[in-house]
Amino acid sequence: MVKYTDLINSLSAEVPFVGPETQERSLGFEFNTRLGANESVFGPSEKAIQAMQKVAATDVWKYGDPENLELRDAIAKKMNASRHNIVIGEGIDALLGYLVRLTVESGVKVITSLGAYPTFNYHVKGFGGELIFVPYQNDREDLESLVDSATKHEAKLIYFANPDNPMGTINSSEKIEKIIKRIPGDCILCLDEAYVDFLSDQFIPKIDIENPQVLRFRTFSKAYGLAGARIGFAFGARELIKNFDKIRNHFGVNKIAQTGALVALRDEIHLMEVKERVKLAKGQIEKIAIDNDLSTIKSFTNFVAVDCGKGGQYATKILQNLIKRRVFVRMPSVEPLNRCIRVTVGEVKDLAYFADQLPVVLKETL
Ligand SMILES: Cc1ncc(COP(=O)(O)O)c(C=O)c1O
Repeated sequence: MVKYTDLINSLSAEVPFVGPETQERSLGFEFNTRLGANESVFGPSEKAIQAMQKVAATDVWKYGDPENLELRDAIAKKMNASRHNIVIGEGIDALLGYLVRLTVESGVKVITSLGAYPTFNYHVKGFGGELIFVPYQNDREDLESLVDSATKHEAKLIYFANPDNPMGTINSSEKIEKIIKRIPGDCILCLDEAYVDFLSDQFIPKIDIENPQVLRFRTFSKAYGLAGARIGFAFGARELIKNFDKIRNHFGVNKIAQTGALVALRDEIHLMEVKERVKLAKGQIEKIAIDNDLSTIKSFTNFVAVDCGKGGQYATKILQNLIKRRVFVRMPSVEPLNRCIRVTVGEVKDLAYFADQLPVVLKETL
């Protein structure tokens, strides 16, 4: 009989997010509109698509460059940094796993917000770490309390996302820059910036890239429209980045993704267009909410948390009824955030369908 480790035997086989495809299989129908996974319905740059098609036709038989050199150099140039400060991985999700593997073992304490992005927690549990949760304050991650908790518990990692998922809120650059100075000596801030590309510069904190206590994570899944290609990067102090080479999946990033990301990074016009379309679509979601006497949380991302106004049980029923009506949306997992449903931006036709279904669902939900 296979003998698993005690840690593996202690874990339940959970998935951080049940995929829409899994839901479709169990529901027995396909969603009409996909507004639940914070992907970019607007897709990647046309230039990136063409470049990826070419690689698919001629080069996909080759493994990707294990050093991801061209992409690291392009990112480094854009950030005025060195390639040695950058590691590429199979999306932020994988990179979070690598950081946890580098720093967490049985009993190590890690701080995150209650209801924050769950994939991080999944990795921590998988390496035997102990999660300590800090509640949100006014729908924002509470940075002061996260750092206080890290100090109190002698934690190794603090995780927070800025802007945040699932609420779409933000903490100011000044606040982030300030709390970084208070992070205890052997603790690392894991700063997830998946949605950073939707921000204007004033909202992006200025942090010394060689600060050994901060590691920042970015992705091509959101504004760049490459979620399915699975590619993202982390940047920080050389020493920390170097350690990723000891454990990362060196051939995990494929050639199509490497090429797509490289070309997408250079297509600034497409990025600007996407940002504009996201802004318009968020306005549309806000209008749909208002038309139905619901309020929204101000969003700095590509999704909007719509407050259904009557607590978690009610919002859960709204979500379930939207799903029955073939609208794929998600919602936060804990109180009081779970009074909201989370609606990702869509094309005009997606939001028109949502606008049609929401009043019907509100009427039929008690
Ligand atoms: C806060 C946050 N981090 C990371 C991710 C996943 O990023 P990636 O696709 O690069 O793994 C998401 C996706 O929803 C997210 O919301």
